[in-house]
Order: sequence, then C-alpha cells, then structure tokens
Amino acid sequence: MAPQSDPAPRTILETARLVLREFTHRDAAFVLRLLNEPSWIRFIGDRKVRDLDAARRYLDDGPRASYGRNGFGLWCVVAKGSEEPVGMCGLIRRETLPDVDVGFAFLPGAWGRGYARESAAAVLAHARDVLGLRRVLAITDPENVASIRVLERIGMRPEGTVRMPGESIDLLLFAWDPAP
Ligand SMILES: CC(C)(COP(=O)(O)OP(=O)(O)OC[C@H]1O[C@@H](n2cnc3c(N)ncnc32)[C@H](O)[C@@H]1OP(=O)(O)O)[C@@H](O)C(=O)NCCC(=O)NCCS
Repeated sequence: MAPQSDPAPRTILETARLVLREFTHRDAAFVLRLLNEPSWIRFIGDRKVRDLDAARRYLDDGPRASYGRNGFGLWCVVAKGSEEPVGMCGLIRRETLPDVDVGFAFLPGAWGRGYARESAAAVLAHARDVLGLRRVLAITDPENVASIRVLERIGMRPEGTVRMPGESIDLLLFAWDPAP
C-alpha cells in the first residue's frame, strides 16, 4: 500500500464530467485491470502486466516517465464525484512518429457515455492552449470502429496509414492541426 505521505496526484484538466490527473502508484490495481481487458489487448497490445508490481513498473516507465520528460503523458480519467478511475487519456511522444499522438482507453463498464470523446477533446485543447502543440496525431487499428468514431468526433482528419515497427498490419493515421 502507498505510504500515507504520498502527495495528492496533480490534476491536469477538468471537463464537465471528468477530471484528468497524473497517475500514481495507487492506481496500480486499476492499470492492472485495464491493461488486461480483451479490448486493450486486441487494439493496443499485450503489455504483459500481470501483477501489481508490473503495473507500478508500467506506470514508472510509461506515463510517469513521460510527465518528467515531456510535461505530458497518459493521464488517469476519473468521473467527478468518484475516486475510482474509469480510463486513461492523454498524449504520447514516440520516436516512431513525427508528432505527439493522442491515446485513450476506458474500462468497458464506462463505455458509451461519451467519456472518450469528452476527455480526448479536452486533451487536444490542452495540447494547443497549454502545451502550444501545432499538430497532434492519432493511430488506430482499422477495425477499431469505436476509436475511429471518437477521433472523427473530436475533429481529427484521416491521413492514410502507417506501419509501426514490429507491427504486422498498417494502422490508420489521423491528424489535428488546430486553428491558430
Ligand atoms: C475506444 C473507446 C475508448 C471508446 O470509448 P467510449 O467512452 O465508449 O466512447 P464515447 O462514448 O466517447 O463515444 C464517442 C463516439 O463513438 C461512438 N462509439 C463508441 N463505441 C462505438 C462502437 N463500439 N461502435 C460504433 N461507434 C461507437 C459513440 O456512439 C460516439 O459517437 P457519437 O458521438 O456520434 O454518438 C473504448 O471503446 C475503449 O476503451 N476501447 C479499448 C481501448 C482502445 O481501443 N483505445 C483506442 C486505441 S487507438
């Protein structure tokens, strides 16, 4: 269990219904669950996170390393009035893409409420207004109709396909160039 002296996680942004905050080790159980959802394994990949220690390592090496390195990363999404995370949404800088990309994943129990659209739209606004990014990308499996719909709804445009290293299929590439 996390020590009582753990500081409260930093809130990054709020929407009408959601809070996006930084992940901490206290979120390890949630991450363990999310990363083993069939939908995550199918459309994002098997990160081989099988216990709480591995979940904490994933947080340290992934989202939390990115906060320190880039000033952004994948953030924890919590519905207002609740303490329980429902998903993750945020920005990723990969060596394999020329610009930062937006990513999201939610527990199946939270699907269909517009949470992905609401959080991803707010992340794009944050990328433009707070981080000053001029272009944000997204990549998704061509069969991931839910993800494609979210990307269309937040105003991203299809830009063809991209083959990521180690992947056996082409992914759809989307881009967002915010108005100045
Ligand atoms: C993709 C995902 C995040 C969508 O989450 P969600 O909160 O259910 O999405 P929303 O409720 O915000 O829906 C946004 C739009 O997509 C549509 N949509 C959502 N799921 C859909 C589905 N399975 N089929 C068709 N449309 C779908 C909604 O109807 C909505 O459209 P509308 O605004 O025109 O009504 C969720 O399915 C998920 O976590 N999937 C597993 C992880 C994943 O694939 N992440 C993306 C990797 S690129």
